[in-house]
Amino acid sequence: MTVEQSVKGDHPVNPAVDLVSGEFWGRNPHDELAWMRENAPVYWDGRVWGIASHADLKTVSLHPELFCNGGGIRPDNGPVAQMIDRDGAEHKRRRNMVNRGFTPRRLTDSVDRINEICNQLVDAVIERGECDAVRDLAAWLPMHVIGDMLGFPEAERGSLMQWSDDLMCALDGKPESVAQATTAYVGFREFCLEAIEDRRRTPGEDLLSLLIAGGTDGDEVNIEDVIHDALLILIGGDETTRHVISGGLYQVLRNPAAKQALIEDPDRIPCAVEEMLRWVSPIKNMARTVVEDTELSGQRLEAGDKLLLLYPSANRDAAVFADPFRFDIARSPNDHVAFGIGTHFCLGNNLARLELRCFFETVLRRLPDMELVDETEPAYRPANFVSGYESMPVTFSPRSG
Ligand code: HEM
Repeated sequence: MTVEQSVKGDHPVNPAVDLVSGEFWGRNPHDELAWMRENAPVYWDGRVWGIASHADLKTVSLHPELFCNGGGIRPDNGPVAQMIDRDGAEHKRRRNMVNRGFTPRRLTDSVDRINEICNQLVDAVIERGECDAVRDLAAWLPMHVIGDMLGFPEAERGSLMQWSDDLMCALDGKPESVAQATTAYVGFREFCLEAIEDRRRTPGEDLLSLLIAGGTDGDEVNIEDVIHDALLILIGGDETTRHVISGGLYQVLRNPAAKQALIEDPDRIPCAVEEMLRWVSPIKNMARTVVEDTELSGQRLEAGDKLLLLYPSANRDAAVFADPFRFDIARSPNDHVAFGIGTHFCLGNNLARLELRCFFETVLRRLPDMELVDETEPAYRPANFVSGYESMPVTFSPRSG
């Protein structure tokens, strides 16, 4: 236990539970999460409270007056200038600025482009008969979609991928990783400042232009806010969706009956996508700060304490999901919380669902005999926030387009 750690809580202690570390999340910590749900669903791990049950996660998320975002969404850092670190009217104002980029109409308009990207990704590998499903397919679909939405040029997508990866890899809870994150942030910031200047000269309909235009109250827009919200949208959009694509694909490929069912009846894909979201839960946790002393499931929480909402744990809670450790493409109902719940409910949830549907429709249609090279579960990235597979080699019959 380090000096900053303290003792709180009236519950048994499990030394394997280390909610802030990259190692803990850089694998599948379902044994520990199951132990928490069973023995200490509101668990103090020495630095932060872990909220393990579906019911408590919902209670915390739906009571922002008691559990706020203003202390920042990471357990080991304070707030930055992004909308998700704001509460109340200020949060609403910031969210409304970009809401219009996510309307059902905008989504319908983007279906053709998303299908085009999916097909281009398949075109690039189909003659080889093998590829890395993470590096060649899963990572690029959301990066191109979100790059298009923000209005970032295609030529810059490689740099954006690098910065985004470096920022996520740096979230392993180790102090030395701060330097890596700082370099990536400086690179993104410079790039973004240029893009902002460009958009001021020639505004468009893209999300960056919406952020620069500000709300309807005529206030001066704060450039740091714009940069942080652009980064939130970039990382929120690309690091998450890619892990659901790769984690969902892994489950489908190791379950031939499920794969065949989806090939024969693609209308079942949207339901399967919900199960992939539940199963993968790529955002491992989000922090809240206790506003005033209160009680939750028998534990005394003090003002200023940080809580971590443990999405992968809530999504395997047997109180809500029958046979929660079974991947079931037909699961219904499926009340998963992979996108959170309440005022900060994921802004991009419908976009992510659309990308996932398009991806599985295209890949299962064009590469129906895709197989895993190795059935062993691929290694996770040791990051304490958003985590998933780093690499997943697959093979399929080579074809000429
Ligand atoms: C599978 C993909 C995704 C997952 C699992 C996911 C998950 C989440 C979660 C758990 C939250 C926090 C909810 C809460 O605190 O209650 C969130 C917020 C957010 N997400 Fe997503 N997300 C995904 C895709 C996207 C995409 C594609 C975008 C944008 C293009 C996006 C943008 C955002 C933004 C801006 C917020 C903050 C909203 C606010 O503070 O009001 N996300 N997301």
